[in-house]
Amino acid sequence: MGSSFGALFCVTTFGESHGPGLGVVIDGCPPRLALDLAQIQAELDRRRPGQSRLVSQRKEADQVEILSGVLDGVTLGTPIAMLIRNADARSKDYDEVSRAYRPSHADYTYDAKYGIRAIAGGGRSSARETAGRVAAGAVAQQLLATRGVSIVAWVDEVHGIAAAVDDAKVTRADVDVNDIRCPDPVAAAAMIERVEQARKDGDSVGGVIRVVARGVPAGWGEPVFDKLEADLAKAMMSIPAVKGVENGAGFAATRMTGSEHNDLFHRRDDGTIGTRTNRSGGIQGGISNGEPVTLRIAFKPTATIMRPQDTVDRDGNPTVLTPKGRHDPCVLPRAVPIVEAMVALVLADHALRQAARGIVG
Ligand SMILES: Cc1cc2nc3c(=O)[nH]c(=O)nc-3n(C[C@H](O)[C@H](O)[C@H](O)COP(=O)(O)O)c2cc1C
Repeated sequence: MGSSFGALFCVTTFGESHGPGLGVVIDGCPPRLALDLAQIQAELDRRRPGQSRLVSQRKEADQVEILSGVLDGVTLGTPIAMLIRNADARSKDYDEVSRAYRPSHADYTYDAKYGIRAIAGGGRSSARETAGRVAAGAVAQQLLATRGVSIVAWVDEVHGIAAAVDDAKVTRADVDVNDIRCPDPVAAAAMIERVEQARKDGDSVGGVIRVVARGVPAGWGEPVFDKLEADLAKAMMSIPAVKGVENGAGFAATRMTGSEHNDLFHRRDDGTIGTRTNRSGGIQGGISNGEPVTLRIAFKPTATIMRPQDTVDRDGNPTVLTPKGRHDPCVLPRAVPIVEAMVALVLADHALRQAARGIVG
């Protein structure tokens, strides 16, 4: 239970962090979609560890193998299974964790729920599980591209250091120019310094990722329980270390009046209806309104820090935990492609749901 997502573009991820491999099965991808397989690998490369000094130094090639559902680069309409084998799993780094619960990680809750857990690497609570999502998200992004939809995410804030980024203009090329994945060069330099400092201190920091989906037509989203923002919020909150999500003006709207917040309608030059501002973040009544869909996603500081911390073992005996292993002092740079992938999965699902109503758009 809980490993599948989406109604019509349905993905199921499988695999543990230190098992033989992990991956995803996509059921419901339409047939005859020409896939750029190199693009799937490129997205996985953006997520993998070891890309820079700012992230975990685990050495994983994250080479994707497509086992089914694709023939000569074209989807068959049958389940697409993608496998990523684990290569650099060092289980001995987790000897300490086998006795002690890592504070603010998932060791205690997995034990409480299942009574058994794959200790090494955190099993499925590890962000390694998201490799399958990123592979599926790359397929979803290619499906969405045929409908004129594109998605860009970037690191907008690290430990209170905020970037100034124009979400109308930012491109993926702007984002990937530096290791922190922030298109504001001044803020990026300060963020990198902050993460380096945290790493030297054996500590960690969190922050905010912002994402914009452009080209989403008016009409996607299924009231009332599958509202577009409800499904997006679920998708974002399912990413490890995410603790908050805002759509449009989000919490800032609580400090505005209606006259300050309302998005006024107008007729665009092409004759379609638009809004002059986009504080609604592209969604009203759970349905896209044709403006860019915007979200801000809050990530907590990495739970595993290289400092001794008081905790307890499985029997409740007090102990001190000093973790070993390779951890991300800040998860945000690697989370950028994960956010894009999860937004793509939601939008691809809602594109197919709207098409299933017999309304093309
Ligand atoms: C890209 C990415 C990398 C992560 N790397 C680590 C890590 O190296 N060490 C760690 O303790 N947590 C890491 N996390 C977060 C944990 O997986 C997460 O905090 C843990 O599963 C508990 O879940 P929760 O924080 O959502 O409650 C990472 C998360 C993401 C998105």
